[in-house]
Amino acid sequence: MGKENVPIWDEDFFNVKNSETWKSLSAEIRNSILVSLGQKILQEAYFIECAGMAYAGKMNLAAKNKEEREFYCFVGEEEAKHLRMVESLANFSTSLENIPSFSLLIGEIIQEAQRTSHLLLIQILLEGWGLNYYKTLAKTAKDENVAQTFKNIVKDEIRHHSAGVILFSNHKNGMSDKEVDEFLGYFERISFMVKVGPYSICEEVFRQKKDPTEEELKKFLTEINAVVVTSGKMELLGQLIAKSLPDAVLEKVKAKGYLTAMSLEEMTSALSQSIPGVFALAPNR
Ligand SMILES: [Fe+2]
Ligand SMILES: [Fe+2]
Repeated sequence: MGKENVPIWDEDFFNVKNSETWKSLSAEIRNSILVSLGQKILQEAYFIECAGMAYAGKMNLAAKNKEEREFYCFVGEEEAKHLRMVESLANFSTSLENIPSFSLLIGEIIQEAQRTSHLLLIQILLEGWGLNYYKTLAKTAKDENVAQTFKNIVKDEIRHHSAGVILFSNHKNGMSDKEVDEFLGYFERISFMVKVGPYSICEEVFRQKKDPTEEELKKFLTEINAVVVTSGKMELLGQLIAKSLPDAVLEKVKAKGYLTAMSLEEMTSALSQSIPGVFALAPNR
């Protein structure tokens, strides 16, 4: 088997090892799904590093003093290095038509949002999120080169994230109503992308099935423990913003349910509506 046909992350990483739904697929299909999911992970990392370069450029221009400007120059250099490192790992599509929706949202925030949202959403939340995610990727990758690459990237991301926390703590006068509204609007969208659960694997698995039903999706989500795993991710999301967000804003986030995990039923329904052209084809809808 050529290297491109060996999955970088295995069944354990996606939690599917004991799933009956998963085991009902042929060994060949299971392998091709794992390979494809691995490529998607690298593809997402690639676009996130691209966004990192844009972020550094934007924050560089908006820097309040020489030290800040220097810092973002270094960040830009590091993100460019990360991009090259990820790029060299494997064959995956870098076509602009294939930008994952998470990276699209990050791009939109970098393009549209103001400085407060930038610090909170990109540098504190997403760099912090990326840090945890990359650590897991490094620990679980079956390819030594991939594992080492993510380990090296993590060393820089730790600094990027902590600098965001320090810079935001200088915002002594809190947040204006406009800043709070902007933050909440973007945070709602980030929160939905996390709380909807394991989108990619459900998409790959159920594309292989003829006329899949929501019942089958629900069974699969139960088998892979999706609610518990996703609740853990929601908790991390909360922890990352809780340490920086003013209490009143954190209360609003909680009250709006942005940190509340979905039940199995809610996740089944949200996922079946989000995956295009799979469940809509099921005859029992
Ligand atoms: Fe990076
Ligand atoms: Fe970074």
